[in-house]
Amino acid sequence: MARDYRVVVIPGDGIGPEVTDATLAVLAAVQDHDNIALRFETHRAGAAHYHDTGRAMDDATLAACRDADGVLKGPVGDPAVRAPDGIEAGTLGGVLRPGLDAYANIRPIRLYPGVSSALRDVAADGIDYVIVRENTEGLYASRGKGAVTPEGVTDFMTMSRAGIDRVVRKAFALAASRATARVTCVDKANVLRGFALFREIFDACAAQHPDIAADHLYADAAAAALVERPGTFDVLVTENFVGDILSDLGAATVGGLGMCPSGNIGDDAAYFEPIHGSALGLAGHDSANPLATILSAAMLLDWLDEPAAATRIRSAVERTLARGAITLAPNGTTPQGTQAAAQAVIAAL
Ligand code: IPM
Ligand code: MN
Repeated sequence: MARDYRVVVIPGDGIGPEVTDATLAVLAAVQDHDNIALRFETHRAGAAHYHDTGRAMDDATLAACRDADGVLKGPVGDPAVRAPDGIEAGTLGGVLRPGLDAYANIRPIRLYPGVSSALRDVAADGIDYVIVRENTEGLYASRGKGAVTPEGVTDFMTMSRAGIDRVVRKAFALAASRATARVTCVDKANVLRGFALFREIFDACAAQHPDIAADHLYADAAAAALVERPGTFDVLVTENFVGDILSDLGAATVGGLGMCPSGNIGDDAAYFEPIHGSALGLAGHDSANPLATILSAAMLLDWLDEPAAATRIRSAVERTLARGAITLAPNGTTPQGTQAAAQAVIAAL
């Protein structure tokens, strides 16, 4: 009997449907190899859905995401679709992250063989680290709130002891499963009290894990170090907004946003998505790189406790890139085409 999982799929906006179709083809091929049965349930959500209904996501869809074994989400958003307060209305992070209490945003930054790094000189010893981005508080907790006065707006950063503790623990647990086993705390403890608390809780957790190396970097210094010596990092843990910025920086060093998957993980629910946006200008051209979404599906399989299938996908992606069956154009698209890139991965499974 095949092991059965219910997976909610949110295709998203722009290139979303193309990269999710490509990924579903890969998952369909993987199922047979690993005796898994994935039952997909597609839900509309995002900017186009907001435009049509006035809501980025229906309550029923959020409930379905909570109840499912896992969620695969394409990129969403359209800069033209705005809420009355001027903020982009079609993105889903503000709904799904708190809605699923998905407090750890796991963002692997890995340079695959055959992919050229913008950092040719320092990438020789490899780039393979994971940013653990706190996902439910920090500066993003101010979303839709803040103090709005005629003089201006104050957005606030929330750092709770429990919120820091759970994400820091996640980072140490992740490091324990990796060969290097080192965690770097990225903060601005020199400037903001919230970050001083973040570091204090990090240090307490580090003391409980003598087997895992721990160090700190201020966020600005971390930005420089991720460019100058990316090969020296293993796991980084940081606040929401800092993690957002540093993960795009990291992506730029490993072939672009199209190469970077992510998992938004809570204790009871999780969703997986590429870290890139909906790239409306590329939609319908069959040129977007589907690998960030395909690699997100591999992370979904890890979450479902199907590591063999997850590894099969990652190895296939690796071989496909190494032998040049998928290449990347300077703008991050695939000259082979989105669906053909997925077929190349399937051929290598
Ligand atoms: C991300 C994205 C989102 C974020 C946007 C779309 C709201 O950039 O997942 O990194 O800022 O968190
Ligand atoms: Mn981002």
